[in-house]
Amino acid sequence: MQDWLAAQARVRARRGIIRHAVPRTGAVLDLASNDYLGLAADPRLQAAAVAAVERYGTGARASRVVTGTHAVHAELEAELCALTGRPAALAFSSGYAANLGILTALGGPGTLILNDEHVHASLIDAARLSRSPVEDFPHGDMDALKQRLAARSQPRAVVVIESIYSVLGDAADVSAAARLCAEHDALLVVDEAHGIGVAGRGRGAVYAAGLAGAEHVAVTATLSKALGSQGGAVLGSPALREHLVNTARSFIFDTGLAPAAAAAAAQACRIIADEPERVAAVGHNAALIAAALGVDQAAGAVQSVPAGSPRHAAELAARLEDAGVLVGCFRPPSVPDGISRLRLTARADLAPEQLRNATGLINTLLSRMEVPA
Ligand SMILES: Cc1ncc(COP(=O)(O)O)c(C=O)c1O
Repeated sequence: MQDWLAAQARVRARRGIIRHAVPRTGAVLDLASNDYLGLAADPRLQAAAVAAVERYGTGARASRVVTGTHAVHAELEAELCALTGRPAALAFSSGYAANLGILTALGGPGTLILNDEHVHASLIDAARLSRSPVEDFPHGDMDALKQRLAARSQPRAVVVIESIYSVLGDAADVSAAARLCAEHDALLVVDEAHGIGVAGRGRGAVYAAGLAGAEHVAVTATLSKALGSQGGAVLGSPALREHLVNTARSFIFDTGLAPAAAAAAAQACRIIADEPERVAAVGHNAALIAAALGVDQAAGAVQSVPAGSPRHAAELAARLEDAGVLVGCFRPPSVPDGISRLRLTARADLAPEQLRNATGLINTLLSRMEVPA
């Protein structure tokens, strides 16, 4: 095993795809995190988390179906419903667990899962675990999706998309996908990890499409991005919630979401509803970044800048970090189209001046370092 580990590390080094999980120190401008609304350090979320620790303790103590459901979970689920307009919500310990939960609980040999080819790793893993037949359809291609739905032999089908895709930042046509699912008696699962707090005045792309009450549309969410906390949720019909409580293994066999995280996320929902200007600031900052870097503005907070080979992208990101600017560096296998990219997040709490300085630096480095195709 030790020889194999060393050989694997050498392969990663040769391909320029080494990742590091080390704390970042020093004063840096963070254009890499997913704290889109700048809520993770908001005193109101912190106060809610502290109050929850004092009231419930630091952990949920058990699975939600044993003794791990507390009033704060019900409060969070009610706030998520109020924000997104969805009839029912079920909180999980992460967005990853929410995605595992819904697809494994709905999957099996009688359910065809149709994944957009750009969906997040958690959805790919969930589909694999579900024991369903799984097919990918070309990214955003509604004609291809229609053909696959029409040709299916399974009695049930689940179509999986993201409202705003995590790496390229582009938006799905949620309305078209929902229409096709209705026509073909399929369930649409929309991962709104990058949509809630950003799209539809913060209420999500499903809400914006007028589908908040649609029974054939389920939403999955993370509490760890725009909501500034930690955890995940499935938002859908009461019948879906009841099914998940009874069958989703990542809900049943997992300790309940930490009370502090639940309370902070509930507070974030209230702030998003009350402060639409925060959500609007993401759009303004996204426009500023896109214009300064000469890329098309993506739909939400994530702006994606092509950066050549994995090695080139990593070098660019390292030089930016040396200069005090943190950006995401996405290389295979994280990039769905194989093109390495810098990923910049247009956080609401960044000042235009900070963004102008950072994009100026990126342009200077890009012009000095020839970007290989
Ligand atoms: C599209 C998408 N879905 C799910 C997740 C997982 O969410 P969490 O970090 O809460 O597990 C992420 C996070 O990276 C994501 O980008």
